[in-house]
Amino acid sequence: MSEARLPTAEITRLAALLRAGEVVAFPTETVYGLGADATNSDAVLKIYETKGRPRFNPLIVHVADLAMAEQLVELPPLARELAQFWPGPLTLVLKKRRDAGLSDIVTAGLDTVGIRIPAHPMAQTLIRAVGRPLAAPSANPSGQLSPTTAAQVIAGFGGRVPVLDGGPAEAGVESTIVTLDGDVVTQLRAGALPRETIAAALGREIAVAAKDAAIAAPGMMLSHYAPRATLRLDAAAAEAGEAYLGFGPGPEAAANLSATGDLREAARNLFSMLHELDGSATRIAVAPIPETGLGEAINDRLRRAAAPRG
Ligand code: TXA
Ligand code: MG
Repeated sequence: MSEARLPTAEITRLAALLRAGEVVAFPTETVYGLGADATNSDAVLKIYETKGRPRFNPLIVHVADLAMAEQLVELPPLARELAQFWPGPLTLVLKKRRDAGLSDIVTAGLDTVGIRIPAHPMAQTLIRAVGRPLAAPSANPSGQLSPTTAAQVIAGFGGRVPVLDGGPAEAGVESTIVTLDGDVVTQLRAGALPRETIAAALGREIAVAAKDAAIAAPGMMLSHYAPRATLRLDAAAAEAGEAYLGFGPGPEAAANLSATGDLREAARNLFSMLHELDGSATRIAVAPIPETGLGEAINDRLRRAAAPRG
């Protein structure tokens, strides 16, 4: 998108709301975020109220550039190497600077911050206009699917939240989250940047956090990303009463994540198609997805969506 096509008047209006402590939904390349001034605890609390989220998880802080990141976190050499993926769908969990000025609610009392520079030009322009870091989880009511369009955000919150419309999200799944411990890079959440891509760029293995590790625990409750319909995974075909969500060539499907078996296309379609089928079916059967590249993030979200509720 060219700078010239940015809705500058709208961005200025929404930036003023954010500076005044309101929440505003904005587009990123992964999913839409529900943003608030990360330095203002009252504003950040409104994220929880709006989402109806029952407990505090640390939130990802979004900044416009590296200079802004440097004011909030320590960036050891390995973090700077990982920053080659910025702007982009990679969140780094880094040690918080003592003078960061972030609300403790954002970090849920931890001495680390999950931080990223989103690649969407509207997100960057909005953050610059606010002049402050924005805390933003996905812009959906707690426990529901992450939104990949402005219309889904509006539907989710019944129009109560202003939304900056940046078109359909390019990646369709949330950012990959990694943490650093000395020389070791550990993935806390699979996401839009495949682990293999990070490993290849760094020339080193990326560890995967154990499912029950305390460090991976914040916000990684199993039942999350939940549609109303029940999901059956790794299904070769639909049974009676099920809507089939296909992948690649296969049986007749209500929707197909990617008819050609392209994982990038499947990630982009994942939440939208689940949203869509959720409106018309009570049981959804999902085709097997390979566990490689973006498949790791897609399968993670599907397992969460299929997990027992409660
Ligand atoms: O793509 C994305 O990452 C989207 C868009 C809007 O940018 N944002 C998103 O944010 O998914 P959020 O706030 O839902 O992600 C929060 C998760 C937490 O549940 C936790 O797993 C991890 O990020 N996290 C954040 N800060 C952390 C920290 N200090 N230590 C460990 N994990 C952290
Ligand atoms: Mg979410």
